[in-house]
Amino acid sequence: MFTTLLLDHREDGVTILTVNRPDKLNALNETVMTELDKAFESLSVDQDVKAVILTGAGDKAFVAGADIAGLATLDGPGGRELAERGQAVFNRIARCPKPVVAVIEGYALGGGCELAMAAHLRIAGANAVFGLPEVSLGLVPGYGGTQRLARLVGQGRALEMILTGNPIKAEQALQSGLVNRVVEQGKALEEAMGMLHSILKRAPLALAAAIKAVIAGYETPEEGFATEAELFGQLCETGDFKEGTRAFLAKEKPDFKGH
Ligand code: COA
Repeated sequence: MFTTLLLDHREDGVTILTVNRPDKLNALNETVMTELDKAFESLSVDQDVKAVILTGAGDKAFVAGADIAGLATLDGPGGRELAERGQAVFNRIARCPKPVVAVIEGYALGGGCELAMAAHLRIAGANAVFGLPEVSLGLVPGYGGTQRLARLVGQGRALEMILTGNPIKAEQALQSGLVNRVVEQGKALEEAMGMLHSILKRAPLALAAAIKAVIAGYETPEEGFATEAELFGQLCETGDFKEGTRAFLAKEKPDFKGH
């Protein structure tokens, strides 16, 4: 049914959803976003699904970001629309009434880091790398990252990651509260499964209510998301954005001019 996602419905009620574009480090193109939306629409209401694990194919990356090839041609209105759409998909994941655990081995950059943050819990392998490098492309995070990162790690740490664009390793992500647990490389799925088995012994209605209450209290005022999408669109009109995406795709260093 899906071309970019793999769904494994296990007998214990845990569905493992894998973003499956390993040759592009599982980058989020339009198809992945549409399929994620559809998948969570049905997982959220499927009585047989008790919890979801979100992961990426291959051992190199969870998800290396939004697909830069698809971003490169965006104009202002298109950029804003893309950000609003991405926010809506990730908000659907955050609002899923079943526990959603991101299992991160390798890169979780840009939209990949934002996808991990939309999950309720994050378990990382020791090789995981987190970052929001959008400023290197002349952009800002547009799928809720400016809002969720600040909520998870605090404004100062969030701005350091967003303004430098520099990635952090798993241990630092653990110290700053970006991930719940770090385990030996290759063991994150096993750890997530163990954690879910203890969670799933609890009352399902209480789990759904707990997620709803925490997310409701934690959801950033709509204004924060709207500002993010508006600025993402504005930046898509700049020369620096065209230079940033051009340089990435040509495997060169960008030469930013500030306009
Ligand atoms: N969008 C589109 N394609 C991407 C991608 C992305 N976000 N991230 C990686 N890819 C592609 C590469 O272009 C490459 O494709 P190719 O083999 O057709 O040339 C392939 O995935 C493998 O990536 P590569 O860059 O060769 O791997 P690496 O090990 O040298 O570097 C990264 C890994 C993650 C450091 C590097 O791919 C990277 O910086 N990616 C972009 C991260 C980013 O800026 N994300 C935010 C986007 S908003």
